[in-house]
Amino acid sequence: MMKGYEMNIKRTARIIAGILLGAAVCSSSWAQKAEGLASTPQMGWNSWNKFACDIDERLIRETADAMVNSGMKDAGYRYVNIDDCWQGERDTDGNIQPDPKRFPSGIKALADYVHSKGLKLGIYSDAGATTCGGRPGSRGHEYQDARSYARWGIDYVKYDWCNTPGMNAEPAYTTMRDAIAKAGRPMLFSACEWGMSKPWEWAGQVAHSWRTTPDIYNCFDCEYSPGFSTGLGVLRILDRQAGLRKFAGPGHWNDMDMLEVGNGMSEDEDRAHLSIWAMMASPLILGNDLRSMSESTRRILTNPRVIAVSQDRLGVQALRVLVDGPLEIYAKPLDGGQWALMFLNRSNQPADLHHDWKAQVLTDDLSRRSVDFKQTVYRWSDLWSSKTGDTSTKLLARMAPHSVLMLLLTGPAKT
Ligand code: GLA
Repeated sequence: MMKGYEMNIKRTARIIAGILLGAAVCSSSWAQKAEGLASTPQMGWNSWNKFACDIDERLIRETADAMVNSGMKDAGYRYVNIDDCWQGERDTDGNIQPDPKRFPSGIKALADYVHSKGLKLGIYSDAGATTCGGRPGSRGHEYQDARSYARWGIDYVKYDWCNTPGMNAEPAYTTMRDAIAKAGRPMLFSACEWGMSKPWEWAGQVAHSWRTTPDIYNCFDCEYSPGFSTGLGVLRILDRQAGLRKFAGPGHWNDMDMLEVGNGMSEDEDRAHLSIWAMMASPLILGNDLRSMSESTRRILTNPRVIAVSQDRLGVQALRVLVDGPLEIYAKPLDGGQWALMFLNRSNQPADLHHDWKAQVLTDDLSRRSVDFKQTVYRWSDLWSSKTGDTSTKLLARMAPHSVLMLLLTGPAKT
């Protein structure tokens, strides 16, 4: 039998061990990024693609109004993100201030307004001493800036990588992650380092998403290199995702940059652009003017069935399963045994699709899912039209230039 004092010693030791463990858990948990903020790819809007530095508080308020009134909020878009050029100077204590001319009411008032609409407010900074637009960056002020953001009611921080010579990305982004965690308000942390240091290899614990490429350029299949920077069209960004899918999943996404839907590409290109981003589980951050978009743009951006593919809870990024000249097929395993399939015509000419389901077993090693259409028949429905069919017969279609056919496969219909 255990003597009384031995029991007491053991109990005390257990209590001390418990306290030490608790302290260890607490001290490591404050330095983690907030969990649960991006269990599916984040959806929202950002000012940069359309407005660059020409932003003010009125634009942000009107965008929040338009997000609600246009049905975007109901479709799932939540974040209203202010990009570069909102900053003014730091005050004498080093606190960052908004540009007094463009944001005279302050960011807190803006956050209150955006929150009153049931939306969330995002902000932008940079790991260097200055941002890409030449405004004050967060270098040396990370904890102070994160505290300001938390005080203002910010929900999302996009963190850029301009003017960082000699700096290493991983520690720089980790510092901001820790600063945000210490500030005590859950804020989604979006790393914008353009893929230079392969952030997919280290940012899973640091950020909720990380940019994989240079900036998007508003075209489907082109590249723009004026010398100091590069802009990539939709297909060029897609091609740079090869090999990255295994790094993405709930809470940590490959970010293919903000959308250009509604900014001048054709309707087929816009549909393809959104479909690709949804298939690849990239964040869906709108980049157009929500206050004046056409009905066709609005319909494209709010397609609930395409958004459901993006927001599927499995969070598996699509894989390319076939290349046949200009035609490519991508497959995304979905929750509940479903699949999304995307047929992409990369060419600027029409292309005829003759797809024999039975010619290839659909296999994904990452999610360990496989379908042999010789054994199993799936029903399909076209997510951009009302067409339906099944995999017992070949899929024949004439595809317009730069277009997609996006199907939801449910089944098995019969085995
Ligand atoms: C970089 C980013 C863009 C945008 C601008 C702002 O280029 O990649 O998304 O934030 O800076 O200056």
